Amino acid sequence: MACDDGAFASFAARSRRCLPRLFADYVDGGAHGEWTMARNRSAFRRWGIVPRGLRDVSRVDTGVSCFGQTWKAPLMLAPVGFAGMLHSDREVGSARAAAQCGVGMAISTFSIDSMEDVAASGAAPFAQIYVFRDRALTRDMLARAAACGIPGIIVTVDTAITPVRERDVRNGFRHLSRPTVMQMASLLRHPRWLAGVAARGMPRIGNLADYATAQGVMAQAREMAAQIDPRLDRAGLEWLRQEWKGRLIVKGVMHPQDAAMAMACGVDGLIVSNHGGRQMDPAPATLDVLPQIVEAVAGRGDIVLDSGIRRGGDVVTALALGATAVSIGRPWAWALAAGGQRAVAAAINVISQEIADVLGLAGLTDIPALRAQGTGVLWKM
Ligand code: FNR
Repeated sequence: MACDDGAFASFAARSRRCLPRLFADYVDGGAHGEWTMARNRSAFRRWGIVPRGLRDVSRVDTGVSCFGQTWKAPLMLAPVGFAGMLHSDREVGSARAAAQCGVGMAISTFSIDSMEDVAASGAAPFAQIYVFRDRALTRDMLARAAACGIPGIIVTVDTAITPVRERDVRNGFRHLSRPTVMQMASLLRHPRWLAGVAARGMPRIGNLADYATAQGVMAQAREMAAQIDPRLDRAGLEWLRQEWKGRLIVKGVMHPQDAAMAMACGVDGLIVSNHGGRQMDPAPATLDVLPQIVEAVAGRGDIVLDSGIRRGGDVVTALALGATAVSIGRPWAWALAAGGQRAVAAAINVISQEIADVLGLAGLTDIPALRAQGTGVLWKM
């Protein structure tokens, strides 16, 4: 999926021109038949938002509080691995864009800029982590997060297995550490991108490089991906809850029993996500499982929804069905590739404006009013 129906279509198109094919496909692609990815979008088409008039909507406030932070729009940038390979502004520039626009951000374990670099830039991103087989290593990441003032940890739980992503297989993405002639040709066809990446020296996985024995970004990624613990279960989550005293959020929840179990372990919130269709295929759309999860959580924590959010109307629909806020993955990756920090800020502003448009046209002046009406604002097609 590039982006054919979103506010981000031009960023998506530009990112494909700016990036070597194997990186463009890495961002755009999904697992197996990419059905989940398609469903994430089509689920939103089954809902309309009923226009309302004769109300004073001269001031519309999209502000929200979520995961202990106050945002100007119910939006955060989802963790995206290797984002720093897409543009020389990297994760630090993206975090600055999020901070400047007053929305949330999480940096991936597999980020090129380290969490220390991003935190030092003045942004206050959440850090996404995986629980590694070597718990001492995970403990070290938590200690680093605490030391640099990370406000919360997001633990991703939908990656016990890394499924085939056919585009990456075709492009040899995971074997880029020893580029083939075809891969070299593709990289050389994008000299601006290459110069941007090379300008900061040999890229490495900033968050993990000190733990890896391998050199080079893709070899380090392979080594550390093998560290993700496929045995992570309830006891593992309870261990993490004990180790990390700050805000703890579980990402990748798609079943109400998993949601209830995570809440019983004492986590502070959830991200309902199917990883943008990059993991289980075929999975249901996140929007379709959201109401059951909202019921299971029963107000005990904030719920962010991601996977397929492309327009302001999608955000309002997700909030009407019970989400506290949403996050976006590919949209900010496309914007970063297309134009760095400025484009990421522009993308956030585009969707924020659309959220305000939709709220106002629904006769609502703020998010609490939307929450009060809930599904009352929706029309099932
Ligand atoms: C991701 N996602 C992701 N999630 C995570 O927890 N850790 C990670 O390192 C990554 N890496 C990653 C790379 C790329 C290129 C993409 C597109 C996505 C998943 C991401 O956080 C989010 O769940 C999805 O991107 C949401 O779906 P949309 O907005 O891309 O449709």
